[in-house]
Amino acid sequence: MNSDAIEISGNGFRYPAFVGRGLIAKAGEIARNIIDCNRCAIIADQNSARLFGDRVSESFRSKRFSSHLITIPAGEKSKSLTQVEKICDEMIKTGFDRSSFVVGLGGGVIGDLSGFVAAIFQRGIPHIQIPTTLLAMVDSSIGGKTGVNLQAGKNLVGVIHHPALIICDIEALEALPPQEIRQGYAEIIKHAIIRDAEMFHDLSSRQASIHRSGDALIELIRRNIAIKARIVSVDDRETSGERALLNFGHTVGHGIERATAFKIPHGDCVSIGMVAACTISMKRAGLSANERDDVVALLKKFGLPTQLPAEVDREKIIDAIAHDKKFLGGKIRFVVTPRIGEAHVSSDVTMDDIRAAIQDL
Ligand SMILES: NC(=O)c1ccc[n+]([C@@H]2O[C@H](COP(=O)([O-])OP(=O)(O)OC[C@H]3O[C@@H](n4cnc5c(N)ncnc54)[C@H](O)[C@@H]3O)[C@@H](O)[C@H]2O)c1
Ligand SMILES: [Zn+2]
Repeated sequence: MNSDAIEISGNGFRYPAFVGRGLIAKAGEIARNIIDCNRCAIIADQNSARLFGDRVSESFRSKRFSSHLITIPAGEKSKSLTQVEKICDEMIKTGFDRSSFVVGLGGGVIGDLSGFVAAIFQRGIPHIQIPTTLLAMVDSSIGGKTGVNLQAGKNLVGVIHHPALIICDIEALEALPPQEIRQGYAEIIKHAIIRDAEMFHDLSSRQASIHRSGDALIELIRRNIAIKARIVSVDDRETSGERALLNFGHTVGHGIERATAFKIPHGDCVSIGMVAACTISMKRAGLSANERDDVVALLKKFGLPTQLPAEVDREKIIDAIAHDKKFLGGKIRFVVTPRIGEAHVSSDVTMDDIRAAIQDL
């Protein structure tokens, strides 16, 4: 495997992630070394298709792949079974078969949806992830979780189907609005809190703008892919508890998302949720007040919210959490951090702790 690639491997899977500048134009060349099928369906949303569709198609064509671009509406609504059926129908009509592969070109919505299509089309064909949002590069493209939403809730239908290859081109992020960049930083700061004190201090000590371009950004994305890769390498199916650490800040974050009918973006909810998780960690895991303050300061530095808007109904959040899927046998499994860079799942956290932390926000 190329030395520039980060290897993501575990029980029954092994694939590289490439991070660099200008890689979208080289996607065909990179894929040629990894995939021996010749036909690909490139699935993109209106934005990623408009911005990168031609470049990616051309790159695949230049390496003798025949490609077909399928464009769907942008947004979370597209992560549906209806959309899966439409895409599969179009693939059949276009003549795709078991010797084809799927390329997901876009943010996490496209990554999850195209991965799910790849997992089930003719019982499973290879998937290439070309993430074009920061969140997708550092989080959703890694680890093989694919799926769609139901009316009843998000990500309720899905399957683990690891990609064969991930290609991250930082040039893609130049077109990404600041609000979307921020969503990625929420997960990056989460990774720092649970696994990488050095990255946390690096992000805290340097100007925010330094991390937003060039080699520093490539390095930062690589470092985050490596963190998630290490976690999924030992627990891709969330059985041993390791992958659960990635839920730091998410129990309260998901509660806020649901209580506000998904009007506040996911990363913003997780940011506020991480503040609550730090308050709970002070009580239940010995986190120092100074480190909690450092987390709040870092989130603010990257433009992330650390308090709940006054009008949000706190009780609704608590109700939503009480129905959260992370309760196992009636016990809350809550991710706490005893110090920055470390995290574990605790079953000592009570609903009262959560209530108090939310009322504090
Ligand atoms: N599979 C996983 O492990 C995992 C982990 C985290 C999140 N997710 C999922 O990821 C999804 C969120 O992903 P997201 O935040 O990337 O959202 P998204 O895919 O909706 O992208 C956000 C917006 O940015 C646009 N966009 C994409 N790339 C662009 C670019 N380079 N320039 C300009 N605009 C661009 C998109 O069209 C969209 O409007 C959710 O559905 C979530 O459930 C999955
Ligand atoms: Zn998240």
